[in-house]
Amino acid sequence: MAEPLNIALAGLGTVGSGVVRLIETNAELIARRARRPIRIAAVSARDRGKDRGIDLSAYHWLDDPAEMATRPDIEVVVETVGGSDGPALTLARKALGSGKSFVTANKAMIAHHGLELAAAAENSAVALKFEAAVAGGIPVIKGLSEGAAANAIERVYGILNGTCNYILSTMEDTGRDFADVLGDAQRMGYAEADPTFDIEGVDAAHKLSILASIAFGTRLRFDAVETTGISGVLAADIAQARALGYVIRLIGTAEIDRGGAQPGLFQRVRPHLVRCDHPLASVDGATNAVVAEGNFMGRLLFQGAGAGEGPTASAVVADIIDIARGEKGPAFSMPSQELEALEPASSGHRIGRSYLRFIVPDRPGVLAEITAAMRDAGVSIESFIQKGRGDEAGGEVIVALVTHEGPEAGVRDALRILEGSDSVAKPPLVMQIIGG
Ligand SMILES: NC(=O)c1ccc[n+]([C@@H]2O[C@H](COP(=O)([O-])OP(=O)(O)OC[C@H]3O[C@@H](n4cnc5c(N)ncnc54)[C@H](OP(=O)(O)O)[C@@H]3O)[C@@H](O)[C@H]2O)c1
Repeated sequence: MAEPLNIALAGLGTVGSGVVRLIETNAELIARRARRPIRIAAVSARDRGKDRGIDLSAYHWLDDPAEMATRPDIEVVVETVGGSDGPALTLARKALGSGKSFVTANKAMIAHHGLELAAAAENSAVALKFEAAVAGGIPVIKGLSEGAAANAIERVYGILNGTCNYILSTMEDTGRDFADVLGDAQRMGYAEADPTFDIEGVDAAHKLSILASIAFGTRLRFDAVETTGISGVLAADIAQARALGYVIRLIGTAEIDRGGAQPGLFQRVRPHLVRCDHPLASVDGATNAVVAEGNFMGRLLFQGAGAGEGPTASAVVADIIDIARGEKGPAFSMPSQELEALEPASSGHRIGRSYLRFIVPDRPGVLAEITAAMRDAGVSIESFIQKGRGDEAGGEVIVALVTHEGPEAGVRDALRILEGSDSVAKPPLVMQIIGG
């Protein structure tokens, strides 16, 4: 068998210790598949004395992970530290600049700096790989950049954040409200102590921007993802959706928009109503799912664990095996210079049905004002639901409506008309409807 591939591992938390465990447990199988053994030559984390439940005594400890970039015996640097900047980025730049291949699970860093790092990898003729950064254990990057490589992909969408999906599906199962379920998710370790990135949709937006670049061959535009999280979703919305035959899911959608003078890149993360018979409606708990539509392959659905030690480590080690086999293709499925620079597309001319929920004062004339705004903006209302006073509405009244199919611009215009009106007590919630 060939010489071992020497790797260094920065970060020994959930993902990093999973990588050590997986490489140790499946060493023989991995060596046969990779056609050479994978050897951990050095490790690094903040606290050397921390009990991680794994024996690290065989591995050389480095206090400063940046040292990995300069050690001649190391071929691949694996980063599972996290953070878009800071030590992870310093290590990535140094490692790639010094001719080491680089594997990471860090979606925040790739979403912000992926193009720069891809160019650095190309300059040094080494690999930059980040399968674990999108949808954890699901091989969606490989699926799109290799399995679907022959297709023009026009649309990719899915459930990209397990924490939000756990919260929404638990709200659905129990009828409890958002804050209550979030508290439980934090206690059970499904949500971070600071859950902002997850619940406000930022984590899903990181992943969506990476997927879009790979699927469409476009330059990464994380800055252009329209992002709304799930913190505004009420238990009443979930109950209402269910009564109408839908569930609520946080969906990221990316699409090449051909409705304008030039093609544009449309990217949006937002809670949606998903019809109960749509494949994404049955994706429960912390699971992730991605749908990609290609011109020859049709619709592909990838589904599985989007996070967690085992699944995420599995994706990291798959990248290392690729490198051991000598696969050093471009990070975003084509050389970074060739990625198309598309401008962000506006959602205005998108056609669809929407769910709008208002919290309004309990007085006459309010419903008339809302329906007049819809009429003036050319929005046709399919159904109108008024709920009595609810705790979540603070004694005010919850009003929801579903529109007929029409341009999203109409909904936006109607909301603009209602802006500042004393008939609308709080900012309304708008969700698009998937699955008819
Ligand atoms: N957790 C998941 O399920 C999952 C899924 C997909 C992707 N990811 C991504 O994987 C990455 C790691 O996530 P994680 O959940 O494993 O995080 P984590 O459990 O918090 O682990 C982070 C590790 O990095 C080390 N670290 C932090 N700052 C450091 C520094 N300045 N220098 C050296 N080491 C440092 C920590 O050291 P100490 O242990 O000594 O404190 C810890 O071992 C993130 O980018 C995350 O987005 C995670």
